[in-house]
Amino acid sequence: MTTLTVLGGGQLGRMMALAAIPMGVDVRSLDPSAEATARNVSVLTVGGLGDPAALIAAATGSEVVTYEWEGVPASSTRALEHAGWIVRPSTAALEISQDRIAEKSLFTSLGIPVATHAAVSSRAELKAALEAVGTPAILKTCRGGYDGKGQTTIDGPDDAEPAWAALGPAGDLVLEGRVPFDRELSIIAVRSVDGEVRTWPLIENHHRGGILRTSYAPAPTITDELQATADGYARAILDHFDYVGVLTVELFQLGDQLLANEMAPRVHNSGHWTIEGAKTSQFENHVRAVLGWPLGETAAIAPSAMVNCIGALPDAATILGLPGVHFHRYGKSLRAGRKVGHITVTAPDAVTLHERVDALRRLLPDDVG
Ligand SMILES: Nc1ncnc2c1ncn2[C@@H]1O[C@H](COP(=O)(O)OP(=O)(O)OP(=O)(O)O)[C@@H](O)[C@H]1O
Ligand SMILES: [Mg+2]
Repeated sequence: MTTLTVLGGGQLGRMMALAAIPMGVDVRSLDPSAEATARNVSVLTVGGLGDPAALIAAATGSEVVTYEWEGVPASSTRALEHAGWIVRPSTAALEISQDRIAEKSLFTSLGIPVATHAAVSSRAELKAALEAVGTPAILKTCRGGYDGKGQTTIDGPDDAEPAWAALGPAGDLVLEGRVPFDRELSIIAVRSVDGEVRTWPLIENHHRGGILRTSYAPAPTITDELQATADGYARAILDHFDYVGVLTVELFQLGDQLLANEMAPRVHNSGHWTIEGAKTSQFENHVRAVLGWPLGETAAIAPSAMVNCIGALPDAATILGLPGVHFHRYGKSLRAGRKVGHITVTAPDAVTLHERVDALRRLLPDDVG
């Protein structure tokens, strides 16, 4: 029996385990909460992700350790690497993804364009950064942000002081020019132990209040050139790290240009559609990659959409009667702004997909999706 340890027991870990089980893989998870959503599908160790004893307890019995959250302390994965465990993706990739400036510097060094930005660690630096970057701009914490948290917009000079008051105490910051994008896309890619890279089709993402609400895949009206550009960016990052596993790069599209926003060294919310909509899901391919197995095909099998359930869930009996609908509930308690489930919609063609998504939306509570 092959055993895999996943650091973090959230919905990404749960879906990873659900993909691993049919391949005969036993999954162990480490999470600080006894209520972690991976608890039903893995052997859960309850403990801190920075707690050496808990890390060893969760990793014992596995050869390979992976993670489903980029907030796992790099000191934890490094300690496991030093103690002889294979950690995939490597600590080097995890560490860069935790720091927005390091991430942007890496992208730039690999020839991947990013938004105009400047580092900010004092009020004076914020003033200088605003002169260099201009407005509108977004001030972000360098570390620890997710779902739009740790960010504030600066539309003009009057917003600078409140922005500093809100985020100044949070540590190192980065000021980014607000990109007037046409739309947001993501590219999800996977690299195997022997360096094979596969990418899923580009995904179109819609956010509200800084949280991903809906994804469409394959993203409509993508030219071969744009897909090739995104594939090339992902490949450059993967090869740089000699990376093993799934990587996501969030992108802004402006005409035929793509700017990289950030990367996640893991499976991603915008890739949930791959469970029903692609030949191999991001979760299965991540497991295959980290265990050193050959990758599965990443082509889409149907036009797909993914609608997140944020803070509330619809009634299963109400939505499952619609054609092409699959419902995923994470078994989490309901709380405003929390991702508690998602719905995938597939259809034979794009027109039918939009009809189905519209029909679904009419059945959803206002705060869902
Ligand atoms: N420079 C920018 N220009 C325009 N919009 C931006 C910029 N940076 C962020 N945004 C918007 O805010 C959203 C969240 O930003 P970002 O991805 O940097 O933060 P995050 O908190 O890590 O988000 P998540 O965890 O959802 O990926 C983006 O998806 C985009 O809609
Ligand atoms: Mg993001």
